[in-house]
Amino acid sequence: MTERLAGKVAIVTGAGAGIGKAVAVSFASEGAGVVVNDVDDAAANEVVRVIEKNGGKAASNTQAVGSVAAAESLVATALETFGRLDALVNNAGVLRDRMLHTMHEEEFDQVVEVHLKGAWACGQAAVRHWRPLAKDEEARPHRKIINVTSASGLIGAVGQSNYAAAKMGVVGLTKSWAKELGALSINVNAIAPAALTAMTEPLMQDERAASKRLARFALGRYGAPEEIAPAFVFFASDESNYITGQVLCVDGGLVI
Ligand SMILES: NC(=O)c1ccc[n+]([C@@H]2O[C@H](COP(=O)([O-])OP(=O)(O)OC[C@H]3O[C@@H](n4cnc5c(N)ncnc54)[C@H](O)[C@@H]3O)[C@@H](O)[C@H]2O)c1
Repeated sequence: MTERLAGKVAIVTGAGAGIGKAVAVSFASEGAGVVVNDVDDAAANEVVRVIEKNGGKAASNTQAVGSVAAAESLVATALETFGRLDALVNNAGVLRDRMLHTMHEEEFDQVVEVHLKGAWACGQAAVRHWRPLAKDEEARPHRKIINVTSASGLIGAVGQSNYAAAKMGVVGLTKSWAKELGALSINVNAIAPAALTAMTEPLMQDERAASKRLARFALGRYGAPEEIAPAFVFFASDESNYITGQVLCVDGGLVI
């Protein structure tokens, strides 16, 4: 443990698997107390167990991100369990890929609800807690929101107009909040990752499609979630206190 997040408390949404799980485990190993959120309660509870087994601190929250009520419950879990909140990672996500002419209304709504409305609602709940604190503090600490966007949210993707629109919206949240909240020392950044997870494994089943996909990465491969997590630790730590409103691609050179 290097304790770069010692004394801090973070919420990580969608932390039962993939990138969110790696981020939650890394945050805890750096000394943070972590609220592990996931709709898959068995997965969330297992991540809490792993963190505690490693000597870390965690609590699970199994609300489905996408509503103001779920967002408020996440902040309540952080405050009731740890008594504070320092960082929010808006990571939860789903794909409902389909070409525009065949996409169903529910597929558009589901993706926008989790990625865009979910991030907006969680950001609002965190900021409603932080604002009155920040106004009274003389030595104000930096607080962090880390949103998760995607290559699709930067350059678009065939069959992902719902997802690309939501993830471009997440970039809009990131830049607008950075401008709105900088005066309160709340830093807002986004990460565009690429990693082999349950979300991306189906894209690699077909050999020809997989090699075509990998040819788009300068480094020629998908990363592991554990290779993405250090960028989140950096953005949650005091090392990034002078960075806000930025999108960092942690993607092996997919978007250059
Ligand atoms: N894997 C990649 O290459 C890649 C690329 C670009 C962006 N992303 C983004 O990274 C994030 C994590 O993706 P991943 O690859 O780890 O996916 P994943 O499918 O492995 O994990 C996503 C987790 O989110 C949970 N989840 C889904 N809907 C939820 C909700 N409403 N509330 C709470 N939890 C919910 C799932 O149960 C799952 O455990 C997503 O926002 C995704 O869009 C991933």
